[in-house]
Amino acid sequence: MTTARIALATCSSLPDLEADDAPLIPALAARGVGAEPVVWDDPSVDWSVYDAVVIRSTWDYTGRPAEFLDWTRRVESVTRLFNPASVIAWNTDKVYQRALESAGLPIVPTIWLDPEQNYDSRRVHSRFPAFGDFVIKPTISAGSRDTGRYEAGVTPQRSMAITHAKNLLSAGRHVMIQRYLRNVDSAGESALVFFNGELSHTLRKGPLLDGPFRPGESEGVLYKDEVMTVREPSADELDVAQRVVAALPDLVPGVDGPLLYTRVDLIPDDEGNPVVLELEVIEPSFFFTLVPEAVERYADAIVARL
Ligand SMILES: Nc1ncnc2c1ncn2[C@@H]1O[C@H](COP(=O)(O)OP(=O)(O)O)[C@@H](O)[C@H]1O
Ligand SMILES: [Mg+2]
Repeated sequence: MTTARIALATCSSLPDLEADDAPLIPALAARGVGAEPVVWDDPSVDWSVYDAVVIRSTWDYTGRPAEFLDWTRRVESVTRLFNPASVIAWNTDKVYQRALESAGLPIVPTIWLDPEQNYDSRRVHSRFPAFGDFVIKPTISAGSRDTGRYEAGVTPQRSMAITHAKNLLSAGRHVMIQRYLRNVDSAGESALVFFNGELSHTLRKGPLLDGPFRPGESEGVLYKDEVMTVREPSADELDVAQRVVAALPDLVPGVDGPLLYTRVDLIPDDEGNPVVLELEVIEPSFFFTLVPEAVERYADAIVARL
C-alpha cells in the first residue's frame, strides 16, 4: 500500500537515474513510498503531484545554474524539495567555502578572481604560486569540468594556465586558484556521507587531475576515471566533517537542523591535516553500489522526512 509518492530528480541523459541510485526505488517501495525518476527540466511535469522531490542526478545544471535555481524555487512553491532551494542556491557556487573558512573550518587555501575586475594576463599571472603545482577551476562546476592542473615552474604551463583563467573570466565566470595539494596523490580524497546528520559511509576517491585543461577534450572534462573504494574516516576527518555538518544551520539561510543529505569531501594538506575540498549538498553521488546497506539508511532517512 503506497502512502507517499516522491520524485527522484534526474537529468534527461539519465532518465532512469544513474545505475548507482536504481536500488533506491525498491528500497522506498518496501517502505510504502512510490518513487519515480523525473527529469528536472521536463516542462510537462506537474511537481505538485509529489509529496516530495529528492534531487539525485541533475548533473547538467552547471551550464545553466540560473535555470536550475529557478526550478528549485518553483518546485518548492508546490511541494517539499530535498535539499531545500536555499541550500541549493548557497551550494551552487564554491564561494560558499569562504563562509566555511569564516566559521573557522579548514578549507583548501584559495585565491578568488572576480570577472568584473578585468584582469589582464600579467595580473592573472601574478596570482599564481611561484613553485609547485596549482589548480585553476571555475567556482560553478562539477565533475572536474573546466578544471586544470599546472606546474608553476614550467613556462608553457603558466601560459596555458593564464589562457585557461582568462577564458573563464571572459565568459563571466569566477575563478579559483589553489595550490595542488599533493598528498591527495597517495592518500586520495575522502567523501563522508551523512544522512539526516548521521555518518552513513565514507568513500575514497583517487586523485583526478593530471594536467592542464584542454578545451574540447571530453567536453572539457579532464579526469582519469573516478576510482572509488570504501574507507573508514580518520578521527580528524570525522571531526572536520562533523563540524561542517554542525555549522550549516548557522551558515545557510533557512536551515535549522541537519539536511537530508550532506557529503563532505576532504583532502589532506601538506601537513596531513584534512581540509574541505568541497561540500556537496545538491546532487552528490553516494556510490550505493559500493555500500549496498547505505541504500536502506538513505530510504529510512527520506521516510523520516515525509
Ligand atoms: N587544490 C587541489 N589539490 C589537489 N587536487 C585537487 C585540487 N582541486 C581539485 N582537485 C582534484 O580535482 C577534482 C575536482 O575538483 P573539485 O574541487 O572537487 O570540483 P568538482 O568536483 O566540483 O568538479 C577533485 O576531486 C580532486 O581530485
Ligand atoms: Mg569534487
